Amino acid sequence: MQRILVTGGAGFIGCNFVHYIMGHSRLHVTVLDKLTYAGNRASLAGLPPERFEFVKGDICDAALVEKLTGQVDAVVHFAAESHNDNSLEEPRPFVDTNLVGTFTLIEAARKHGTRFHHISTDEVYGDLALDDPARFTEGSVYRPTSPYSATKAGSDLLVRAWVRSFGLRATISNCSNNYGPYQHVEKFIPRQITNLLDGIRPRLYGEGRNVRDWIHVEDHSSAVAAILERGRIGETYLIGADGELSNRSVVEKLLVQVGQSPDAYDLVTDRPGHDLRYAIDSGKLRRELGWTPRYGDFDAGLAATVRWYRDNEAWWRPKKAETEHKYAGQGH
Ligand code: NAD
Ligand code: DAU
Repeated sequence: MQRILVTGGAGFIGCNFVHYIMGHSRLHVTVLDKLTYAGNRASLAGLPPERFEFVKGDICDAALVEKLTGQVDAVVHFAAESHNDNSLEEPRPFVDTNLVGTFTLIEAARKHGTRFHHISTDEVYGDLALDDPARFTEGSVYRPTSPYSATKAGSDLLVRAWVRSFGLRATISNCSNNYGPYQHVEKFIPRQITNLLDGIRPRLYGEGRNVRDWIHVEDHSSAVAAILERGRIGETYLIGADGELSNRSVVEKLLVQVGQSPDAYDLVTDRPGHDLRYAIDSGKLRRELGWTPRYGDFDAGLAATVRWYRDNEAWWRPKKAETEHKYAGQGH
């Protein structure tokens, strides 16, 4: 493999993956990204120009997608509308990008016989009860609950059907909640960090009891690289790092790290249909591909993330006011 196409490479996980893969291989990377509100060209600064190309464009643009797919050995597909709260306000872009965009890409990959890796989410499996010891596995039933997760579930099923019906050389990964540098300030952890930096109290939806299974974004990148290299065609791999925490405990940790009282947060209007708990069993990925996460210590990863936002205000500041304005309109 010499050349890859990364869709959504100007977004949070996509840009971290591009930095990771270019630092750990000699691959040439082309990024295709529409630069929606969530994309930021600055997140791709400093990459070696002889091995990197940026194309601004839409994954629903069949002619462009077909041309770019024909030039590479593999496609790694991150591009998506990714935020649940937005999907509850305006679902249409989720249907277009997550469903039609994925369809457009797999049709091009089918035509050219290109290896395809589809990035997805644990949310396709719905949620688990707070007191249930169960975790999601590759065999869990699809039960998405939000417009976002329903369109991601649909995109996974399209990829599975293209493998079975057309022999598409594809793999799928479903990962849990990522944190780390370059994450948009609409998401939970960066929102609270930047609120604290601005002297605003963190905001917890409902009572803050919902549980997410946190993984550092670099561990997600190393898992995707392992699947791209050694994953079995047609297989799904769940990616997670045993990082289950309630939202309340994450906020308490953040408050302590910045020297404030752990109860200095506000409870705000809950998200409609708010999934209770996600939890990943990543045993298959670890056993088959020998992958292990490197960021085992969540507190240390969180502290490094706080430092990154403190040191990179120029990156997030332009998005902060409009994001908070939108949340105010939703009662969050
Ligand atoms: P993000 O919102 O930060 O970035 C998405 C990127 O896709 C942006 O750069 C945006 O400009 C681009 N994009 C959107 N629509 C496009 C289109 N039509 N054509 C081309 N580019 C387009 O998202 P993220 O958090 O980095 O998530 C990336 C992928 O990982 C998504 O597929 C998401 O479902 C999945 N995922 C995310 C998480 C998480 O915790 N954030 C966890 C598991 C899986
Ligand atoms: O599980 C993987 C998914 O994780 C990805 O597929 C999604 O793309 C990604 O956005 C994320 O979805 P969540 O809805 O879990 O992430 P979010 O950052 O929006 O919220 C995390 C939790 O924090 C959730 O329970 C809602 C809560 N929350 C969120 C915000 C923004 C708050 O309590 N307060 C907030 O201000």
